[in-house]
Amino acid sequence: MTEVEVQLGPRSYPIYVAAGILEDLGAYARRHLTGKRVLVVSDPPVGRLYGENVRRSLRNAGFIPLWAEIAGGEEAKTLDTVRDLYDAALEGELERGDAVLALGGGVVGDVAGFVAATYMRGVAFVQVPTTLLAQVDSSVGGKVGVNHPRGKNLIGAFYQPRFVLADTATLETLPEREIRAGLAEVMKYGVIWEEAFFAWLEKEIERLLALGSEAVEHAVATSCRIKAAVVSADETEGGLRAILNFGHTVGHALEAATNYQRFVHGEAVAIGMVAEARLALRLGYLAPPGVERIAALLSRTRLPRDIPAEIAPEALLEVMHRDKKVAGGQLTFVLPEDIGRVKIVRGVPAEAVTAVVKECRAGASRASAVT
Ligand code: NAD
Ligand code: GLY
Repeated sequence: MTEVEVQLGPRSYPIYVAAGILEDLGAYARRHLTGKRVLVVSDPPVGRLYGENVRRSLRNAGFIPLWAEIAGGEEAKTLDTVRDLYDAALEGELERGDAVLALGGGVVGDVAGFVAATYMRGVAFVQVPTTLLAQVDSSVGGKVGVNHPRGKNLIGAFYQPRFVLADTATLETLPEREIRAGLAEVMKYGVIWEEAFFAWLEKEIERLLALGSEAVEHAVATSCRIKAAVVSADETEGGLRAILNFGHTVGHALEAATNYQRFVHGEAVAIGMVAEARLALRLGYLAPPGVERIAALLSRTRLPRDIPAEIAPEALLEVMHRDKKVAGGQLTFVLPEDIGRVKIVRGVPAEAVTAVVKECRAGASRASAVT
């Protein structure tokens, strides 16, 4: 078992990572929670797979588990779902000393976390992530919230959990597409923070795709260690935390321009990482081998790298200009200077972005050194 600490003074918390630890959830909860009731929030597929085990483990540790399912999927990330969960909490007589526990992917974690942050001005919160994306990203760092009809994640809070329990064995029931998408976020940590981790991924990617348990535990724990270091230094995204957005400026624009239908998040981020690495190359921050290594590892993971030809560059630029990451009208990007080191660059010229978007479109001819 690997334990990673998110260091935030009195709000510090551990992330437990290992295969098979879901059975011991009740015992971990005993260490960190003082109340009697735990409102477990999940969705139907995860509930079917893991609900009974979770309830049993909590009961065996002396808790009274309450159960609430949300519809699941991005459409469920609304204030209506939050209100339904408040109703369930009140119905189950959840008190201020009790807890809300998220069992599922990032959607469940974001919604349940927002409920925990606001129900009775805040109750204890626990994250039990069951997708790779949730284990390496969304369950760590305390960003919780829901969507507004005008945009994703516009309503929310920073609200840290008491602990995170990532049972990597739960990934065995996850569709392969979700595993590959999660691996895009894992690679991101190598690019933004640690060349040695990126090199390890280059060596172990086949083992990871086959869900070798030691490799998966190492990848999840290292991703959490890197995210924990960033969040500990900048909890509320005053500066450094923005580096977690590498690949996301273009990635979010792709998701929005395709109405969130065509790509899962990690796939859009994969394309975004190639585009943003090429932008770094064009602006003179990154040398060609850096772009090649990122693109090659994504290919081996069978993740997309190209912007679909039918998406107009102007449509992407328009979304980027509307994006939260445009501060004071300036386009801001996280650009790699090398594998393992990035820089936040403000005021990137729109012409450079347009040129890169054009050269990243499927079928476009490219500069010879970078294929
Ligand atoms: P998701 O929560 O929609 O889960 C994907 C699907 O997988 C769901 O249908 C779910 O039922 C199913 N599933 C989950 N675990 C499973 C398992 N072990 N076996 C079988 N099926 C399983 O998607 P996601 O990719 O986990 O999360 C995406 C969300 O995360 C987005 O809303 C995004 O905004 C959010 N997010 C938040 C943060 C943050 O810092 N808070 C960071 C990144 C993403
Ligand atoms: N997923 C980006 C962040 O947590 O800041």
